[in-house]
Amino acid sequence: MKYVIGVDLGTSAVKVLLLSQKGELCGEVSKSYPLIQEKPGYSEQDPEEWVEKTKEALALLMRQFDGDVEQIEGISFSGQMHGLVLLDKNHRVLRPAILWNDTRTTEQCHQIYETIGEENLLSITKNRALEGFTLPKILWVKENEKDIFEQAAVFMLPKDYLRFRMTGRIHTEYSDAAGTLMLNVTEKEWSREICEKFGIDFSMCPPLVESHSYVGTISEDFAKGTGLPPVVKVFAGGADNACGAIGSGILSEGKTLCSIGTSGVILSYEDDKTRDFQGKVHFFNHGKENAFYTMGVTLAAGYSLSWFKNVFCENEDFEELLAGLEDVPIGANGLLFTPYVVGERTPHADSVIRASFIGMDASHTKKHFVRAVLEGITFSLNESIEIFKESGKKIDTIISIGGGAKNETWLQMQADIFNAKIVKLSSEQGPGVGAAMLAAVGCGWFASLEECAETFVVPAKTYEPIKENVEKYKQLFSIYKNVYYKTKELNEGLKAFRK
Ligand code: XUL
Repeated sequence: MKYVIGVDLGTSAVKVLLLSQKGELCGEVSKSYPLIQEKPGYSEQDPEEWVEKTKEALALLMRQFDGDVEQIEGISFSGQMHGLVLLDKNHRVLRPAILWNDTRTTEQCHQIYETIGEENLLSITKNRALEGFTLPKILWVKENEKDIFEQAAVFMLPKDYLRFRMTGRIHTEYSDAAGTLMLNVTEKEWSREICEKFGIDFSMCPPLVESHSYVGTISEDFAKGTGLPPVVKVFAGGADNACGAIGSGILSEGKTLCSIGTSGVILSYEDDKTRDFQGKVHFFNHGKENAFYTMGVTLAAGYSLSWFKNVFCENEDFEELLAGLEDVPIGANGLLFTPYVVGERTPHADSVIRASFIGMDASHTKKHFVRAVLEGITFSLNESIEIFKESGKKIDTIISIGGGAKNETWLQMQADIFNAKIVKLSSEQGPGVGAAMLAAVGCGWFASLEECAETFVVPAKTYEPIKENVEKYKQLFSIYKNVYYKTKELNEGLKAFRK
């Protein structure tokens, strides 16, 4: 029996999965690392930490594996998107990575529109200038850390940096390059116009390959440090959302994904590269060759829940926190939450807005707050679904993965709020499974990702919307949508007090 490894370099942790040729999960290890948040709006990580924790996770995976290590044939990656890693000419990291949920670059986003024009930007990149994307981060460094920018020889995305440290080779692939705002998404090439207009040397852009491309083998050093065989083949991998889509079988028109990790996304497969959503949702290259997907993003989905847990219920684990949730009525006895703890992306690209609890009552207990947090996160994702539906997409079945697929009550809540059938898979680890599938296809085990999905993607349970609940949630959702507009100005006023 042969095996592949999927490495999912997430925001809170790296998860490594070992899968057999039959798609069976044969091992799983996770190692967490912190966010560095020096100021409100800042979110950074130390790239060395990604490398060390991945090494530790792989070493433990190898120690726990009771099969033949020599049969591990391939490895590939899924990675948190958009993060900026800057390297000097000797390929040394110049500063901590600035992550996708860092919102310091509002000013640079305005400059991007002024310099290149919103329409032109949309026609090249298919996306709007958002704080989380990579180009505004490069411009922030250029403006605020001149010395560092002058030394920068190449920029990388998080999982590409990790792969570079394992192989010594520098690449990126289309699905992650799409999130930089520097790629001509439909032509699949770096935009010379964008580089020239923003004074970025074209040589800073790493070479582009396909997600399933073979890019080398692991270094001897890395093999020694982890126990992996040195001949293991390394494949490029993809953005976490592209890999989540692959790992959930979102590989043809009409398929939709709800992925709740630190962020939350609603993602819909797209074949047609000429489709125009006017930047209301993201439009990126898929990890499947010459395919695309559109996506709405809730910046703090799982993060809103972990924030709540860390601040108010530090000593409980998630299972304890969510226990008894089903006994709290829909609408949490009149308590509503908006999940804007780090600002928002879809449908309100707004780095200043912050979260609210509306309707706090003396009768509310902690459980009401927890239910309100889950409902608020799910309402936010429903706003992305609304955009897709308004654009003519039919969304009646949604595959749910990530933390949001671990809890029965939350899965039913998704069915009731989205008014769609929710499918839970045998593994909720879509991005890691997707990365392993890229390695499986790269190794030649399957002729296509679709063929691989027939073996690797296994539906486990479905949740149908309950009519009575759907009606209640419709009412609540219209109140929820108001909260953004009613709290926008208040938050602009409060900004001065954020230190
Ligand atoms: C997508 C995004 C997030 C990160 C999370 O645009 O910013 O979903 O990819 O890792």
